[in-house]
Amino acid sequence: MALNVVILAAGKGTRMRSDLPKVLHPIAHKSMVEHVIATAKNLGSETINLVYGYGGDKLQAKIQEQALNWVLQAEQLGTGHAVAQANDHITDDDTVLVLYGDVPLIQTSTLESLLTAKPDNGLAILTVYLDNPTGYGRIVRENGNVVGIVEQKDANSEQLAIQEVNTGIMALPGKQLKSWLGQLSSDNAQGEYYLTDVIAMAHRDGVEISTAQPQSAIEVEGANNRVQLAQLERAYQLREAEKLMLAGANLRDPNRIDIRGNVEVGMDVMIDINTVFEGEVKLGNSVTVGAGAIIINSTIADNAVIKPYSIIENAVVGEDASAGPFARLRPGAELKQDAHVGNFVEMKKSVLGKGSKAGHLTYLGDAQIGERVNIGAGTITCNYDGVNKSLTQIDDGAFIGSNSSLVAPVEIGKMATVGAGSVVTSKVEDEQLAVARGKQRNLYGWKRPVKK
Ligand code: UD1
Ligand code: CA
Repeated sequence: MALNVVILAAGKGTRMRSDLPKVLHPIAHKSMVEHVIATAKNLGSETINLVYGYGGDKLQAKIQEQALNWVLQAEQLGTGHAVAQANDHITDDDTVLVLYGDVPLIQTSTLESLLTAKPDNGLAILTVYLDNPTGYGRIVRENGNVVGIVEQKDANSEQLAIQEVNTGIMALPGKQLKSWLGQLSSDNAQGEYYLTDVIAMAHRDGVEISTAQPQSAIEVEGANNRVQLAQLERAYQLREAEKLMLAGANLRDPNRIDIRGNVEVGMDVMIDINTVFEGEVKLGNSVTVGAGAIIINSTIADNAVIKPYSIIENAVVGEDASAGPFARLRPGAELKQDAHVGNFVEMKKSVLGKGSKAGHLTYLGDAQIGERVNIGAGTITCNYDGVNKSLTQIDDGAFIGSNSSLVAPVEIGKMATVGAGSVVTSKVEDEQLAVARGKQRNLYGWKRPVKK
């Protein structure tokens, strides 16, 4: 049995009031349909068909997934018609799993239980029980067995009272599915070719029909407008927050964290409120992340502390190191073990060696800094002359006095000292003191001007 996924995504999404095709609207920075594609891949599906209608160019520009059959449904004649567009990609012994591009929270585990529930040669429908089933297709049973699905607009009053509804997600045998799709008619209240009509055909043909339920109802909810999109975003975020907590992180408030990618955490991690994580982020054991911190594609090693309102992107923070509050680590910044940057320190393509410190108001760009270096407040590496970038090297044990400008390319030797306020343009040898600034004059008898 090969798993063949058909993702329906032809809807225009008028209620989004957007130029963007509906399924490209994001949950956690990733389009809804890409979440669905990722889940389909998790299941190990051999074929994924994406049935699209509007905005094909935009969809193809955004969705990078290579192993995808792009199936155009030029006219939206119903869910059955939509699935039928993928017929050429379905072989007889496939199990066809129908998913929806605007139902992004469906979980791999739920689909696995649906596929497990599906009898050999039979079909399985994912259903939910709703207090208010209005709008949904109702699951019609006789003696407990599913015999069909009736859409809201076609249902009689007895059927309207049924609270078990069709989520739309179902797993079907390829051969029979293709035959049933060929028999669909649009003779119904909406004049559409309903996918749901294949259920009655299956029953007629004596095909076994089973059902399964999602772990949580939010998994099968779609987003038709931006209010629903925001609700799905919150539900997604809470789910991610719960994963982190179960993995060993302590979240001060699971409702005030945003994860837009993958976060790996060690044990005893502490994450304060209003933190944002993007891309691939790794937090080691006992890492602390302060309020308002933003961490993007970065690795934070054991016991490191990211203090509030720091922004860390494509950077590495070593064991026991700390950054912030209000630190900015830009791409290529690395704090080695026990290194520290404080408030208003910006680093780019720079390494701050073991035990080194830059406590305040500093720019370190294209700088290689050794161990136990002290960078005084207000130090600037002048790495850019308007055309080229150059390197600054600061060797072990050096001390850079406050408010110094180090004009690259330049090297400060081991244990060398730079006097405060210096503009250093040439190499300082090991252990030398460099003082490069105007000399102070003290004038006697000078009178402060006074107002006439
Ligand atoms: C469908 C089901 C209903 C179920 C409900 C769950 C049918 C006939 N009805 O109803 O039983 O309770 O979903 O939400 O299947 N689509 C296409 N091409 C089309 C038509 C639809 O790609 O020609 C896509 C839409 O973009 C949408 C999805 O299929 O993502 C569902 O279509 P929609 O028309 O909203 O079906 P419902 O009326 O909600
Ligand atoms: Ca719908």
